[in-house]
Amino acid sequence: MSTIHKGLVGVVADTTAISEVVPETNSLTYRGYPVQELARSCSFESVAHLIWYGELPDAAALARLSEREGAQREVTRSTIGVVDRVPDNCHPMDLLRTAVSCLGAEDPAEDDNSPAANRAKAEAMFAKLPTIVAHDFRRRRGLARIAPDPGLGFAENFFHMCFGTVPAPEVLRCFEISMILYAEHSFNASTFTARTVASTLSDIYSAVTAAIGALKGPLHGGANEAVMRMMLEIGDPAFAGDWLRERLAAKEKVMGFGHRVYKDADSRVPTMKAAFVEMAELQGGQRWVAMYEELEAAMMAAKGIHPNLDFPAGPAYYLMGFDIPMFTPLFVMSRITGWTAHVIEQLESNALIRPLSAYTGLPQRAIPLAA
Ligand code: ACO
Repeated sequence: MSTIHKGLVGVVADTTAISEVVPETNSLTYRGYPVQELARSCSFESVAHLIWYGELPDAAALARLSEREGAQREVTRSTIGVVDRVPDNCHPMDLLRTAVSCLGAEDPAEDDNSPAANRAKAEAMFAKLPTIVAHDFRRRRGLARIAPDPGLGFAENFFHMCFGTVPAPEVLRCFEISMILYAEHSFNASTFTARTVASTLSDIYSAVTAAIGALKGPLHGGANEAVMRMMLEIGDPAFAGDWLRERLAAKEKVMGFGHRVYKDADSRVPTMKAAFVEMAELQGGQRWVAMYEELEAAMMAAKGIHPNLDFPAGPAYYLMGFDIPMFTPLFVMSRITGWTAHVIEQLESNALIRPLSAYTGLPQRAIPLAA
C-alpha cells in the first residue's frame, strides 16, 4: 500500500523561484526580499513587477508598467454586459470567475502560451480586475458605474471607481500593504490549482478562473469575509472570549486562525495588524482592535493557534468601507500577480500534474445478467 499524503501535507510538488516560505524562521520572501520590507517601502505596482519579472523596477521601468496598467483598465461593453446579467444576489467571486472567463473568450491570443504573451495577459488582468470588482460593488448598491481614471495610481483609481473619491494617504497605504501581503505565497491551494490547469497546456485565463474558484472557499481566501462576519456577530469585545470557547467546545473551526504551513505564526500578520490598527485609529474602530486582541488571546490560551493574514485583513477592509462579500475579490486583485507568475513558471519546465490515488472501492466484479 502506498503512503497517502492526505491534503498533500508535506509533499514537495515542484520547485519555484517566485517566493519562499520558511516557517522555522517565520519568513516569507518574494524573489529574495522579505515581504515585510516590501510592504514597508514599495508600491504594489513595484511588487507586481518583482513577482512577474524577478527584479524590483527602476523608476523608468515602474513608469512603463504603470502606464501600461493605466491604459488597460477599461473593459469591453460585452464584459460589462455579462457582469450586469449575473444575478446580483450571487457571491462576487462567482461574478469575478465569470468575468475572467469572458476576458479569455474576448482575447484572440488566448491560446498563445509564450512567456511574453502570458505576461501581457497577466498585466491586462491586473489592470482590469479592479474595474470589474468596483463596477460590481456599485451595481449591488444601485449606483452608476464610475470609469477608471488613467491619471490615478492603482490604489487611488480603485477607491475612485468604488466611492467616487480618493481617501487619505494613510488609507491608501494600508490598502497597498494588504495587496502586497496577499500577492504571493508559494504552492497554496489556489496557486496550485492554477499550476495544475496550466500543466495541461490550457490557457492562462482558464488557470485564473479555476484559481478564483479555489480561493473562494472559507478554508482559503473566503476566511477574510468570515472573520468580519464573526466579529459583527460577537458585537462586543467583552463577549469574544466566551464566544470563541463555545465554538471550540462544539469542535468548530474559527476563521482567521491556523495555517497549513506556519504553525508558530503567520509572518504577514504583524505588518497587516499594524495597518489594521492604524485604520481603526483613523476611522474610530478601536472596538474591532479590542475584539481582535480578545479572540487572539482566547485562541492562544485554548489551542495555541495563531491568527493568519485574513484575521487582521477582514476588519481592515471593513474599516476602509468595503462590503464584506467583496473582501475575497480584493484578495484576487492582489493574488492575480502570484497566480500568473506561477503559470508562466510552470510552463517554463512543464510536466502534467497528475498524482496517483489508492483505490478503496469494491474489487473488480461482473455486471449482473439482468442489468
Ligand atoms: N479553529 C479551530 N481549530 C483549528 C483551527 C481553527 N481555525 N485551525 C486548526 N485547528 C485545529 C484543528 O481542529 C485540528 O485540531 P485537532 O488536532 O484537535 O483535531 C488542528 O488544529 C489541525 O488542524 P487542521 O485543519 O488539520 O490543520 P491544517 O493544516 O489542515 O489547517 C487550515 C490549515 C485549513 C488553514 C486551518 O487552520 C483552518 O481551517 N483555519 C480556518 C480557516 C482560515 O482561516 N483559512 C485561511 C488560511 S490563510 C489564507 O488563505 C490567507
